[in-house]
Amino acid sequence: MDGISLLIEEHSNIQRMLKVIKIACLGLAKGAEVNLYDFDEMIDFIVNYENRHHQYKEEKFLFKKILNEIEFTGDGLNKNGVFNEHELGRKYIEKLQVALSKVRNGDDYGKIEVISTFMLYIKLISKHVSKEENSIYFFANQKLPKEILDKFNDECYYFEKEAIIVGLQYKYIKVLEVLEKKYLKPLEKVVDNEYII
Ligand SMILES: [Fe+2]
Ligand SMILES: [Fe+2]
Repeated sequence: MDGISLLIEEHSNIQRMLKVIKIACLGLAKGAEVNLYDFDEMIDFIVNYENRHHQYKEEKFLFKKILNEIEFTGDGLNKNGVFNEHELGRKYIEKLQVALSKVRNGDDYGKIEVISTFMLYIKLISKHVSKEENSIYFFANQKLPKEILDKFNDECYYFEKEAIIVGLQYKYIKVLEVLEKKYLKPLEKVVDNEYII
C-alpha cells in the first residue's frame, strides 16, 4: 500500500465534505430550514473520518517518523505546524457542537456561531491540506529512508484493514455521497460550479 497516496485520496474526500458544509452554511445564512441531523452527520464525518481515521495515521505513523528522521522539518511540524492545526481544528469542532446544541434549543445566535466557526474550519483545513501535500508529504516521499517509508505503508495497510472490517470507509463515503446529492446536486444547474471553495 502507498500510504501517502491514501492520505491524498482521503484529503480529496475531506475537501468534498468541506464543499457540502459551505453550501449548507449558505442555506443557513439565507434562512433555510436547519436540518440538524445533516449538521450532525457533517460533524460525525469530521470527527470519525477526518480526525480519528485520517489525522490518526498522520500523527501516529507519519509525522513521528518525519520528526525522527528529518530534523530540518521538525519546527514546521510542531511550532505553528500541522500538529497545532489538528488541535485547533478539534477546538473548532467542540465549539460547533456547542453552537449546534444552542440552535437545537431555539437560540438563533447559535446559527451565527455555526456559520462563522465552520468558515474558520474550512479555511484552516484547506490551507492545512495544501501544506501537507506540497511540503510534508513531499518531504516524506523524498527524504524518508525506504525502510521507514515501507514501515509507514505497512502500518497504513493494517490500520485500513481493521477499519474495513468495521465498515468505516464505506460508511463515511456513503454519508458524503448522500450529502453531496442533497446539497450540491441542486446547485449544479443554477450556479455552475461557483460554489467551489
Ligand atoms: Fe493533517
Ligand atoms: Fe491530512
